[in-house]
Amino acid sequence: MQTRIFKPLPDTLEESWLPELIEILKAGGVAALPTETVYGLSANALDEGAVDSIFRIKGRPQDNPLIVHVASVEMAKTLASEFPPAAERLAERFWPGPLTMVLKKSALVPDGVSAGLPTVGIRFPAHPLMRRVIEKSGLPLAAPSANLSGYPSPTNAEHCIADLLGRVDAILDGGACSVGVESTIVSVAGARPRLLRPGGIPPEALIAVLGDLEWDRAVSGESDPSCPVAAPGMKYRHYAPRAQVRLVVGGREQYCQFVNHYPGEGVYALCFSEEQRELNRPSLALCNEDDLPEAARRLFWALREFDEKGAKTVLAHCPNREGVGLAVYNRLLRAAAFDEIEL
Ligand code: TXA
Ligand code: MG
Repeated sequence: MQTRIFKPLPDTLEESWLPELIEILKAGGVAALPTETVYGLSANALDEGAVDSIFRIKGRPQDNPLIVHVASVEMAKTLASEFPPAAERLAERFWPGPLTMVLKKSALVPDGVSAGLPTVGIRFPAHPLMRRVIEKSGLPLAAPSANLSGYPSPTNAEHCIADLLGRVDAILDGGACSVGVESTIVSVAGARPRLLRPGGIPPEALIAVLGDLEWDRAVSGESDPSCPVAAPGMKYRHYAPRAQVRLVVGGREQYCQFVNHYPGEGVYALCFSEEQRELNRPSLALCNEDDLPEAARRLFWALREFDEKGAKTVLAHCPNREGVGLAVYNRLLRAAAFDEIEL
């Protein structure tokens, strides 16, 4: 398949790329489109054939539902059979932005999108190019992260090209994603609002709006394989490079000693900038230790870099779990297939 690559000039209203992209989507095609969190593998959510193509291209298990992206609260309401007061408050405060709400679905949403669940995940993204495509086409877009299933999510167009060239109809280059980890997912379909996946919006901010928030156990720790998982995508080893990732929890000195004495070849450190000079192993600095938004922006890029360098093992220093740090921790834990070392 020939993949069209569209690269709009940044900061202009030049839109010569838009009609062709919309034609592709209306014809049931699949395109990698930028959002502020990560790039999404996008297709018309109301076209079952197009939705099937997403699963096939990504190699995604059929039991893992897709998020539907909209460009207004009205559009969201057409996809949900109920839009409770908690949803109104969250939409008012966090949309457009990195928040997905799980709601009872309307008859409009094909079963393939929701993987047979009675609910649907809906997000109104903030990225101007994604918004423009949805507004101009009038199509709600189903979009999982645009990585091949299991690998780190793409946070720039080069990552999409590496994973998807020849497999999708188009890639829209919107530059680097400003958030860098996926949206926070909250279910407002039950009696109490429930956090299913930490992401770009910190739980503290949700609690400030809702007053009440249950945490799914998959949010902070390992999920119990015998229990049904609320967000099915949270149960697999995920976001992982080819290298083996080990998540190391401990203070700076302990971490540096651990890395410096770790045996074997091809061992790399994913550390904080302040630690780099103390390490005698090759390393990549994620960010300054207290800059959690930067950790989120650079995480998936860094995981992909280790594969470029041919790393066999990555010893990742666990970040602070406050704010968006919880999402960074959650992704690293899955990239490490839950291999967490407490020093
Ligand atoms: O930031 C994001 O959310 C990105 C961008 C492209 O919007 N999308 C994204 O999609 O991360 P994906 O498919 O990689 O992750 C969606 C997660 C999965 O864990 C899935 O199981 C969960 O959302 N999910 C989707 N619909 C759901 C539903 N109805 N109930 C529970 N979980 C749901
Ligand atoms: Mg994903």
